[in-house]
Amino acid sequence: MELGLKGKNVVVTGGGTNIGRAIVLAFAAEGCNLAIAELNRKAGEKVAGEVSAMPGGASATVIDADVTDMGKTDAMMAEAIDRLGSVDVLVNNVGWTIDRLFTEKSREEHIREVDVNLWGAVNCINAVLPHMIERQTGAIVSISSDAGRIGEYREAVYSACKAGVIALSKSIARETGRYGLRLNMVCPGLVVPPPGEVSNPDSMWAQGMEALFTDDVLERVRRAYPLRRMGTAQEVANAVVFLASDAASFITGQTLSVSGGYTMM
Ligand SMILES: NC(=O)c1ccc[n+]([C@@H]2O[C@H](COP(=O)([O-])OP(=O)(O)OC[C@H]3O[C@@H](n4cnc5c(N)ncnc54)[C@H](O)[C@@H]3O)[C@@H](O)[C@H]2O)c1
Repeated sequence: MELGLKGKNVVVTGGGTNIGRAIVLAFAAEGCNLAIAELNRKAGEKVAGEVSAMPGGASATVIDADVTDMGKTDAMMAEAIDRLGSVDVLVNNVGWTIDRLFTEKSREEHIREVDVNLWGAVNCINAVLPHMIERQTGAIVSISSDAGRIGEYREAVYSACKAGVIALSKSIARETGRYGLRLNMVCPGLVVPPPGEVSNPDSMWAQGMEALFTDDVLERVRRAYPLRRMGTAQEVANAVVFLASDAASFITGQTLSVSGGYTMM
């Protein structure tokens, strides 16, 4: 299958860790030019280094980003367009949560979930849309979550935001399809980074989340998935690359779960 991605310019938010890192490397394997939009420059630079060591002519540049801030996000996207020449693909990957009951979370934690997961997607889409409409082409893939499809225990506001990302993208897909723009969503299952792998303090896994997923918990998660195993960041990235590619040229407004059959919608 011809993906038609070689030489395409791709912005991945939060591309420095876990799923975002795998997405960057998957586009790099297709010969894309990447901008890694990161709050944590060090994490972004590590992944950019991995890209430059790959064969096939891909490149990666790191741009400082805070997707919760509209002004900074506009500046990040302007910088990406300047450095890459254009933006063909935006991947809204940044997300944040802490696993706790609704009543046990603080107001500040709820606000942070809305800021990062919902405002982050709004800001990034808003920043790139005029450019894509002017060029009459563009693909946006947003990382949502199965939590946003079914509502997840201990993830109430996060689930609401991830559902919001799906509805936001579908609405904009309806408004901008006439300009050749496509917006789709990928919902990963649980992808826990290997123990000790997260050195980025800005990753949600750096706040003790890893410790919540003991062998016993992971076994229960596996049993909840019809495919009876955990997924990988690479498997999520494969779906993102497909939806961003020419191979998905007649697909827009769709939500694809990559979660071993956990949700079937
Ligand atoms: N890992 C999972 O189990 C899982 C499951 C379902 C959905 N998701 C979603 O997948 C996406 C990636 O998850 P992950 O586990 O790789 O996350 P992560 O927390 O490990 O990585 C997020 C990356 O984004 C960067 N970042 C954080 N805040 C930022 C900001 N304001 N501006 C710019 N960059 C920022 C961090 O530095 C980090 O590199 C998220 O949207 C998450 O909600 C993850």
